[in-house]
Amino acid sequence: MDYRNKIILAPMVRVGTLPMRLLALSYGADIVYTEEIIDWKLLKSERFVNDILQTIDYVDKTDGSIVFRTCNSEIGKVVLQLGTASADRALQVGKKIQQDIAALDINMGCPKDFSIKGGMGVALLYDLERAKCILKTLVDNLDIPVTCKVRILPEFHETINTVKELESTGIAAIAVHARTKLERPRHPPHPEVIREIVSAVKIPVIANGGSSDIHKRADMLKFRDACGATSVMIARAAQWNCSIFRPEGPLPIENVIHEYLRLSVDYDNSPSNTKYCIQMILRDLQETKLGRQFLDSQTLEQICEVWNFGSYCRKKQLEYHNAGIRGRRQACPRVQLYIKDDSLPTKKAKTIDSMLFDGVIEHNVSFIRVNYNDDKDLPKSKLYIYTVKNNLKIPKYEVIHKDKLFKAIVLVGDNKYSSSFWEKNKKYAEQSAALTCLLQLGIVKREELIQNGSMIS
Ligand SMILES: Cc1cc2nc3c(=O)[nH]c(=O)nc-3n(C[C@H](O)[C@H](O)[C@H](O)COP(=O)(O)O)c2cc1C
Repeated sequence: MDYRNKIILAPMVRVGTLPMRLLALSYGADIVYTEEIIDWKLLKSERFVNDILQTIDYVDKTDGSIVFRTCNSEIGKVVLQLGTASADRALQVGKKIQQDIAALDINMGCPKDFSIKGGMGVALLYDLERAKCILKTLVDNLDIPVTCKVRILPEFHETINTVKELESTGIAAIAVHARTKLERPRHPPHPEVIREIVSAVKIPVIANGGSSDIHKRADMLKFRDACGATSVMIARAAQWNCSIFRPEGPLPIENVIHEYLRLSVDYDNSPSNTKYCIQMILRDLQETKLGRQFLDSQTLEQICEVWNFGSYCRKKQLEYHNAGIRGRRQACPRVQLYIKDDSLPTKKAKTIDSMLFDGVIEHNVSFIRVNYNDDKDLPKSKLYIYTVKNNLKIPKYEVIHKDKLFKAIVLVGDNKYSSSFWEKNKKYAEQSAALTCLLQLGIVKREELIQNGSMIS
C-alpha cells in the first residue's frame, strides 16, 4: 500500500461500515478505514463467503450481526482499524483477517472511557512499551502493512519522542489527529505540530483533524499542505457530506443520501446502521417534516420510502430472499450440538446432530424483548394459557446450548416446535420456541411478526 498523496476516509465508529466506505471511494477517496473494531469481536466472529451479496462477512456467532463486511470494490483500499490492548490478540486478529484487508491500523487516539479503561486507544500512548510491542508483533508476523493512528500529546517533545518510538517498530505510516486527548472537535487543531512530526520521522504522515474548515476537496489539500504531511484523512466533513471527496465539488445531500441508500440496500446493511448514518448527514434537517418521517421509519424499506426509493429496496430484498440470503440473526453453529442428558450415568454430554430437529416444526421467528410491554403477553405466557384452556399438558421445554447460543424445543400436544434461529440466552430461546408454536397454531399472525421484526418476510 502506497501512503503518499492519498485522500483518506478516517475511521469512524458506526459510520465506517461498507456502504459509507464504498460511497467515499466512488466520490474519490483513495483509501478507506473501517470503524474501530475491538479485537475480541473479530476473534469470536466467523468468516463467511456471502455468495448472494458477493461479500466476505465476519459474523458474530452470538447474534448474527455483521462485525465486518467487505467486497471486491475495496480490495487494496480498505484498512481495518483495530481496538486492542494486547499484542497476542491483535496478532490473532491480524492472521485471521489479513487476506481480506489492505492494511491493519491500531487505534491509539480514542479518548473514550471505554477504550481507556481497557488500556486501548489513547491509553496506549501513555503505555509506550505495550504500544510498541503490539505494533512490532504485527509488523514482524503479518504480510500486510501495519499503521497506527495517534493524537498529539500536551508536551511537544513528548509527541516527537513518542512518534519516533512508534516509527522504530517498522510501521508503514502514521496518522496523526492534531489534537490532544482533552481537546474536543470544537478546539482548533495544531497543524504546526504535525509539521514537526513530519520533519522528525521518515515514514509517511497522514494529517487529520481539519474537518471544521473542510468544505471541498481543495480544502483537504490545503490542510494537508499546512501540516506539510504526505496524505490527509477526513472524518466529520465526510460524515456530513461524503461527496466532499469529489474533485468536481460536493453534491447536495439528497443525492448523497440516495446513493448511500442504494449501497445500503445492495449490501443489505442493517436498518439501524443505515438510519444512524443518515441522521449524521441530515443533522438539523431531522427537525423538518421529512426528517420526522425519516425518524419514524424502522425498516430499510421504510427508510428508503422517505426518499421514494422503497420499490428498489423491495425488489432487491425479494431478490435476496429468493436467493436464500442468511438472515442477520441466522447465526447457526454448523458443528455438532451437545445436549446435557441426565439419563446418562456418567453425566457426560451426549453428542447429537441436527437430526434432533427431525419432525420439529420450525419457523424463522426470533424473540425481541421490546415487543412485549406486559409479561402476560410474552409468548411463553400465552402458550401456557392456551394449553390450560384446551386441557393440554403444560408446555415442556428442552434447551440446547452450543457456543454460547441457545435453541429450545417446546412440546405441546403431540408436536414439537422450535425457532430456526439461535438465541443469545436460554430464556429467549424458550420464548422464540413458544412463538413458533403460537404462529403454527394461528394464535399470532405472520403479518404481525413481520411488522414487529420478529420474522423475516
Ligand atoms: C462519529 C465519529 C466516530 C469516530 N470513530 C473513530 C474511530 O473509530 N477510530 C478513530 O481512530 N477515530 C475515530 N474518530 C475520530 C476521527 O477519526 C478523527 O480523528 C476526528 O474526527 C478528527 O478528524 P476530523 O476533523 O476530520 O473530523 C471518530 C470521529 C467521529 C466524528
